[in-house]
Formats: sequence, structure tokens, C-alpha cells
Amino acid sequence: MSFGQQPLANALVAPGETGNEAFYEMAPAVCPSCSLFQLVEQPAAENMFNARYPFFTGMSSHMTQHFTALAEDRIAANPSLREDGFVVEIGSNDGTLMSAFARAGIRHLGIEPSESVAKVAQGNGIDTRIGFFDSETAQAVRREHGPADIIIGTNVIAHIGAINEVGTGVAALLKEDGQFVIEAVYLGDMLRNTAFDQLYDEHVFTFSATAVTNVFGRHGLALVDVAPQGVHGGTMRYTLAPAGSREPADAVAALLAEEQTLGLADPATYDGFRQRCESIRDDLAALVRELAAKSGPIVGYGATAKSATVLTYCGLGPDDIAWIQDSTPAKQGMLSPGAHIPIVAPEKFAAEAPDYAVLFAWNHRAEIESRETVWRGKGGKWILYVPEVGIA
Ligand code: TYD
Repeated sequence: MSFGQQPLANALVAPGETGNEAFYEMAPAVCPSCSLFQLVEQPAAENMFNARYPFFTGMSSHMTQHFTALAEDRIAANPSLREDGFVVEIGSNDGTLMSAFARAGIRHLGIEPSESVAKVAQGNGIDTRIGFFDSETAQAVRREHGPADIIIGTNVIAHIGAINEVGTGVAALLKEDGQFVIEAVYLGDMLRNTAFDQLYDEHVFTFSATAVTNVFGRHGLALVDVAPQGVHGGTMRYTLAPAGSREPADAVAALLAEEQTLGLADPATYDGFRQRCESIRDDLAALVRELAAKSGPIVGYGATAKSATVLTYCGLGPDDIAWIQDSTPAKQGMLSPGAHIPIVAPEKFAAEAPDYAVLFAWNHRAEIESRETVWRGKGGKWILYVPEVGIA
């Protein structure tokens, strides 16, 4: 299926610089041999992850809690980490996860290509190497620091088109009894919820247990545990280890069986997904236009990467959605990619208290509801589109 020409979802545009945006055709497909769900055309990584990258993990207190809990869980389960253990994070962003290991006095290294966020981590005392992770980097890190007990990549491994470089690199850097932890948007949840906005340039792959087993099996890494996570609208945590080094948990076989039942290898599953996406596209565009005609400008809440897919796919622009509020200072004053909707600070949202807001940051709904009780008290309503279009 195709979602048409899409901009790079985090490539916000400065007003007056709208002329030279890059677009690509967002067309997902599933590999019939390894079941890996992927975007066929993949924009160059350097165009996405660079000094202008505006995503800061620490902006969400809920995500910060989630990553602190992940680190604490791994430290408790692996007491030897405190005795000269070594933890590596791929795509360490602003150092939110690494800082929990740093606080416990554990040797750590973040690897992060986007200078904008890496510098924040370095400023907070997190050991960070600026660059992409590939097999060459993995070997250099092993030479300089020794092998890793744990390698973690949250919301990043499925972003790396050169996925076999990741497999080779992890296999080279990991200790014989080490573990590789991945968190990524889960294909099962995306299909069940028709959460098509999980698809954008950075999400080159949408993983399932089936695909993770096949892809990393080629590099001698076996899937030994899986655990669903509530964050980012449906995430799976996969733990891999050198093949034969540990017994897989029962949850792995259970999830693989569930994926068969879900029909992940069946083209009809994806046909159904495409049809549901098209209905949401038509319904959402119609609802926004109807409400804007009746009660004045609609706004957006959360200038998420996901919103770029929604806006472009639904053909919505500044005439339909006047502005999008976002709490990230680096996004404020910029225009959304493609649709060119102004991004504004939360103060404007509080001051104007619009009747309707499209909740583009639906994955943070609980945190946002607790922040917006005053607006809700005034009768403010969300426009939702996952898993279907509605008003709440
Ligand atoms: P995120 O969940 O990271 O989605 P994506 O990966 O699709 O970009 O983005 C959430 C955005 O919402 C981020 O730009 C910050 C913003 N935000 C708010 O404006 N207010 C809030 O209360 C929260 C939690 C997030």
C-alpha cells in the first residue's frame, strides 16, 4: 500500500524556508520470507538524525519513568553489572536511560548520531559517542572499552535500514553471556489499533517476534524473552542473547503462536489494514472540516512525528488546523513538515482554550489528561483517530 509522498516527519521547517523539503513515497511492504514489515523507500539516515533532530526523550515524564524502570530492572536482575559491568545504548538521545545506569555507578556508553540531543546528554555527564552504530563502531567500542554485558536500543533499532550492520555489530560487541534489549513499536498493536501514524520515515521497520527471530537469527542472536509495554501506543520489549547461551522464556513461543493466529504472514491481514486506514483518512478529514466550519479553527495537540503522516495522508493543512501546541522548545516557532502548520507553546493553548484539539500525541493521553484538567473543565474536547475517528 502507499501513503503517498510524505515529508521527513521530524524535519520541522523554519518559517521562510519551506522551499527545499525532501519528500519520499511512504509505501510499506512485508517480506514474504522473513515477515519483516518495512518501508520500501528509505530516506538517508543523515537526513533524519543530525544536528537539527528535535526529539528529546526527557520531555515526557512518563517516558523518563519508563526508562528508569527498565534500567533498574536490568540492574536488579544482573547484580554483577555493579562490578565492572558495561552497558551500551544505541541511539541514546538525551541520555535519559543511560543516566539511570550512571547514577548506579555502572560503566556506560551512549552512541548517538544526532548532535542536538547527544550534546544534552554529554552536558549531563553521560558518556556519549556521537555517530551511527554499525559493525565498525561496534569493533572500535570493544577495542576501547571491552565487550558489553548489555546492549540496549529503544525506539531506534527499527529505525536503522542497515539492519544487518546492527546484527553484526551487536554480535561483535556483546559478551558470550550478554543480552541485547530492543524496544520498538509492535506490529501486532499497530495492526490491531490501525495506528497507521506509527509509520513514518524513521520507522523503517515495524517489528514482530517472528521477524526479530528471523532477522537476528542470521547473526547468531536468539530471542529469549518478550514483554509488551504500554508506552508509545504499543511497544514490545525483546531480549536477545547469543544462541544457546540461555533458555528462552515461555512467553516467546506464546507470542510467536499469537502472531500466527493474528495472520502476520497472511496478505489478507494487510489488505484489511489498508482498508481501515483509508476509512480513517476519509472520516478524520471530514470531521475536522465539519467542526471547523461549525465552531471555528481546530487545533492540534503534540507536534509528533506521527502527526506528519496523519496530516499529509489526510490532506489537512493550516486552513483546517490553525496551529499545533507542543511543549518542546526546539519545535516551537517552527512549521510542521509538509503541511506547514505553525507549532506554538502550550501557553497559547491555555489562553485560547479551543473547543476541539486533534490529539496527535495520543500515546501520552494519560499524562496529557492530567495536565489539561482546566481545559477539559471548560468543555474542551479531543478529536481522536486511533483506533477509529471520534470525539471524546
Ligand atoms: P512522541 O510521543 O515522541 O511521538 P513521536 O514519536 O510521534 O514524535 O511525541 C510527543 C510530542 O508531544 C512531543 O513533541 C512533546 C509533546 N507533548 C506535549 O506537547 N505535551 C505533553 O504533555 C506531552 C506528554 C507531550
